[in-house]
Formats: sequence, structure tokens, C-alpha cells
Amino acid sequence: MLILGIECTAHTFGCGIANSKGEILANVNSEYIPTSGGIHPREAARHHASVAASVICDALKAAGKNIEEIDGFAVSLGPGLGPCLRVGATAARALSLYYNKPLIPVNHCVAHIEIARLMCKIDDPLVVYISGGNTIISAFSDGKYRVFGETLDIALGNCLDTFARYVGLPHPGGPHIEKLALKGSNYINLPYVVKGQDMSFSGLLTMAIRKFKDGAMLEDICFSLQETAFSMVCEVTERALVHTGKDAILLTGGVAANRRLRVMMESIAKDHGVVFKAVPVEYARDNGAMIAWTGVLSLLHNVTIPVDESFIRPRWRLDAVDIPWRMNKHEVNKEGC
Ligand code: ATP
Ligand code: FE2
Repeated sequence: MLILGIECTAHTFGCGIANSKGEILANVNSEYIPTSGGIHPREAARHHASVAASVICDALKAAGKNIEEIDGFAVSLGPGLGPCLRVGATAARALSLYYNKPLIPVNHCVAHIEIARLMCKIDDPLVVYISGGNTIISAFSDGKYRVFGETLDIALGNCLDTFARYVGLPHPGGPHIEKLALKGSNYINLPYVVKGQDMSFSGLLTMAIRKFKDGAMLEDICFSLQETAFSMVCEVTERALVHTGKDAILLTGGVAANRRLRVMMESIAKDHGVVFKAVPVEYARDNGAMIAWTGVLSLLHNVTIPVDESFIRPRWRLDAVDIPWRMNKHEVNKEGC
């Protein structure tokens, strides 16, 4: 089985091609980078519409496949920015209708998890998914990816990007903050907000900006911002790990590229005697391959959607999605087979 997947939830228009052996045959992505400020949804959508055809053709070329060989078209219907989601959905619907092949709805958050499980060869981890739009600690239980901690307001990546923009660093800010943080050493007290299993980053962002206005050294603020935000995630991760009893921590999402975060996660894993893996950077950020691979899993379990019901779902939650490819296995295991 060969599935073509389209990613189009925010800054990236991506096209991936995957087969049922878990091989990624193509992963072509075009990122919209704003000339100033953050991501403007309509401008990002305009970028996606202008590159869609060439990205899809390049992916087919890279895979050495003809479009007639594709068995289904997968698309991330959410969560994400409405105008961007609409471009991807329109492209996938058109392909599905024209080539008379199934349309497969994919939840973007599920896709981040599935590509990480595939790439890192970890079956049943506690997932730490941190990106520009999401901060979620999740584990599989009883048919769904359950949420064992999340942000109450902005995502960690968004906190980093917004701070970076304020202090004049390019977008996306995460990698620039990481570099500057290496040169900082004085910890500046910043709000550390964990409520039960949930986190809040908006007060942290406001205070980091205030420290900058007050003349604190940028390197020290970057260092303190990372230490505070990552420690919050670590606290929640550690509790979720003990609660769920999983034997591995898997880091995914764009912020997974951060070395300091990886070191902190690794140290938790070591303390608890569990495995730690982070998804390779190419598959950590938004990409078409993760949609294609989740499309394969979905189609193998007959998860498709009629074109006229394929509405975009900008607020589609991770824990609202059934995961039949793991449910069946879970049920088989329960019967001891
Ligand atoms: P989602 O829709 O899943 O929320 P996204 O649109 O935010 O995804 P991703 O590509 O998964 O897209 O993540 C982008 C985020 O990752 C940005 O906030 C960026 O600053 C952050 N990031 C990238 N590299 C690093 C890094 N080295 N350190 C910290 N943050 C990073
Ligand atoms: Fe993402």
C-alpha cells in the first residue's frame, strides 16, 4: 500500500509518501517564513497554495512513483490555522476525487506521535510533544492517546518565538534562543507555573519581556527562560511517567530539536531506568511524511472520510481520536495472545 500525505496545518506545506512496510519514500516540505512578525494565517495559506503542486510533484519524483500508483490521499484536517488547513484539504479532496482513491483524515498531533514511534522504534512510550502550537504529555491507554498534562494557555514553542520576536531575533526563535542560552549563566527568577499536571507559559513570557526591558542580559534571560520552561515540562513528564508506568520517553515536535531539553529529558529517563529517544529533526518539525505514515495506519484500519464530510477541524484534540491500529493490539494482548 502506498499513501501520499499532505501536511498543511501552519507554516509548512509538506508532501510525504509512505508504504505499509513503514518506509518513507519521500518527504518534501516547503516552509513559509514571515518577512516580519509571526505567522499570518492568510499569508501562510497563500504560500501553501503557490507551492502545493510543485511540492506534490517533487514528492512523487523523489519516491519514483506515478500518481496512479497511490492507494489513498491522507491530509491533516487539524488542529491548525483555518486558512492553511483549507489549502491542504482542498488539494487532498481534489486528488481523491480525480483519482477515485480514498481520502484519509489525519490528526496532526497523532501524526507527530506515530512518526516518532516509527523512527525511534519505540512501541508504547510516554510522549512529550512540544511545538509552536502544542505542549502535550501523552500516553496510549484504552484506545486513545490520553493527555497527562498540557499547557493552559500558549505553547512552549510559541512562548520562545514570541519572546524572540520581541527582542529582535529572527523567526522561528527557538534555535536562536538555544544558541544565546549557551552563553548565559546567571539564572534570573522567572514564573514557574505548574498547576496539577498542566503548565502555563504566558506569565513566563511576560516576565521575560519585562526583564529585557529592565536591561537584563539577553543571554541570561534566554538561559533562564529555557531552564524554567523546560523544568516545568520535566516535572509534569516525571509524574506522568510514574503514573502511567511506561518504559520509555519519546520527545517529538519542533522543540524536540533543542539539545538542552534533550539532556534534561534524558536525565529523567536515567533516574527512572527507562529508555529516552528524540525523533530525528527532519521528522520532529511539521512534515508530510508523518501524515503519509499515519495515513497508512489509518487506511489499514479502514479509517477514511467521504469528501463531502471532510471539514477542517482547527481545534481537533489529540484525545478525541480513536487509534484502532493500537486498540486491536491492546485487545489481543488482553486476551493473552
Ligand atoms: P504544531 O502544529 O504541531 O504545533 P508547529 O506549527 O509549531 O507545530 P513545528 O515545526 O512542529 O511546527 O515546531 C516549530 C517550533 O519549534 C517553533 O516554535 C520553533 O521555535 C521551535 N524550535 C525549532 N527548533 C528549536 C530549538 N532548537 N530549540 C527550541 N525550539 C525550537
Ligand atoms: Fe506540528
